[in-house]
Amino acid sequence: YNIVFVTSEAAPYSKTGGLADVCGSLPIALAARGHRVMVISPRYIHGTAADSKYSGAVDLDSGVKVFCFGGVQEVGFFHEYREGVDWVFVDHPSFHRPGNPYGDKFGTFGDNQFRFTLLSHAACEAPLVLPLGGFTYGEKCLFLVNDWHASLVPVLLASKYRPHGVYKDARSILVIHNIAHQGVEPAITYSNLGLPPDWYGALGWVFPTWARTHALDTGEAVNFLKGAIVTADRIVTVSKGYSWEITTNEGGFGLHEILTERRSILSGITNGIDVTEWDPLSDEHIACNYSADDLSGKVKCKIALQKELGLPVRPDCPLIGFVGRLDYQKGIDLIRQAIPELMQDDVQFVMLGSGNPIYEDWMRATELAYKDQFRGWVGFNVPVSHRITAGCDILLMPSTFEPCGLNQLYAMRYGTIPVVHETGGLRDTVQTFNPYAEGSNAEGSNAEGTGWTFSPLTKESMLVALRYAIQTFNEHKPSWEGLMKRGMTRDYTWVNAATQYEQIIEWAFMDPPYC
Ligand code: ADP
Ligand code: GLC
Repeated sequence: YNIVFVTSEAAPYSKTGGLADVCGSLPIALAARGHRVMVISPRYIHGTAADSKYSGAVDLDSGVKVFCFGGVQEVGFFHEYREGVDWVFVDHPSFHRPGNPYGDKFGTFGDNQFRFTLLSHAACEAPLVLPLGGFTYGEKCLFLVNDWHASLVPVLLASKYRPHGVYKDARSILVIHNIAHQGVEPAITYSNLGLPPDWYGALGWVFPTWARTHALDTGEAVNFLKGAIVTADRIVTVSKGYSWEITTNEGGFGLHEILTERRSILSGITNGIDVTEWDPLSDEHIACNYSADDLSGKVKCKIALQKELGLPVRPDCPLIGFVGRLDYQKGIDLIRQAIPELMQDDVQFVMLGSGNPIYEDWMRATELAYKDQFRGWVGFNVPVSHRITAGCDILLMPSTFEPCGLNQLYAMRYGTIPVVHETGGLRDTVQTFNPYAEGSNAEGSNAEGTGWTFSPLTKESMLVALRYAIQTFNEHKPSWEGLMKRGMTRDYTWVNAATQYEQIIEWAFMDPPYC
């Protein structure tokens, strides 16, 4: 197939979270299986000089004109062919500014609707106009559109291109990585989007009561993600558990009824990971490489991390880690509630994250309060995230919801035991330790599980799970080693997920386009 990913982030070029990891590695896995694969994302330039991450991409000198927001916008394309994939970067002045893809230190950018409308329009044009490797991708494409930022693509195919006889043989799959972000703006902005007036209904939405944060939110709005849910040929979420959760009142963030109507085309495929970037045997960011066959390097990573952080160097002391966006989703409130109690135990704790300034300030203050036990690293730093993943004994993920979650997968691959809230992809990928599986009564001989899951989402149940982990680390070394080895030897490659995506693509092409 000719597969066109459309995404706001793709590692290593741009990244704020797991969306970038997936869009940086799943395309390579699909290309390796013989598909022609393009990834279209913005060319973010954060300073005046071109960002070095894009240094391998050349200007294709073939811009397109996009009609939206009351005028003609000219966008350019840059291109790099790497690991079998055409990486295409949409170039426009609105992508050239300091900050991350969505905002800067003053908050979220006010023109994100405009920026990602441009991305979708440009993505629809690219397969038709860009002669990559001498040939365009042409009209028989499968668009794999990720989250709200790319959600206008299926709407554009249905409303603008197909009525003009273009893309009749194309199909689209919406991949929902996070339903909490939907691209909602006042209804009046619809006329800016470059869509035919009679298609308002696809995006039109009424704020559910809980989503109303100010006076303007009571009425009608346009909702980009809803537009893709009603026009895409298939919908995929990044774990099976999450594909069910988003059809419920609690998990659907106002879209559960529409998703329930479309349940027959909704599936869950658990993410794989980039096993080359995340490999304790060859990771260049960590102090010492190791594997399930020889774990001796892991304690060296722990000692190096304790030194780097200025914590007392104590290999015997359980070291707990957290890596992630400092956002309500990640359950930071629970950690805040639990810290005073947890710090009574003989443990060390390191957190790496950036996001909500309230949580960032709390991390700094907590570090001052518990100098010998707690470190709060405020910032986004990929090498440090690798060192924490390798150097810790336990990785804590008390997410309120988690569509898939990659950090628990990285942790298990590095022999770091995850303690996670039993939700979404965390529930699907972490099995609670069971020392007496299959009728065995000798501890460890027939044990199962790769970590601990807890529920309900309370400080108390989180502390119970953490203390099981701490005690097992301290007192049951064979069980601990079993947990590490089972996690480290699991298959995390993309092969399984890529096969499932192929199946869904095949089904999408068997039916006529939905819209
Ligand atoms: P989400 O996509 O919701 O943020 P995931 O667990 O799927 O959650 O993926 C998060 C990704 O972002 C991981 O690769 C993680 O290592 C990375 N990450 C998150 N915060 C940071 C940070 N502060 N520094 C470095 N990497 C981070
Ligand atoms: C989202 C989710 C996360 C998931 C990632 C990649 O950002 O929050 O759970 O792992 O996308 O699919």
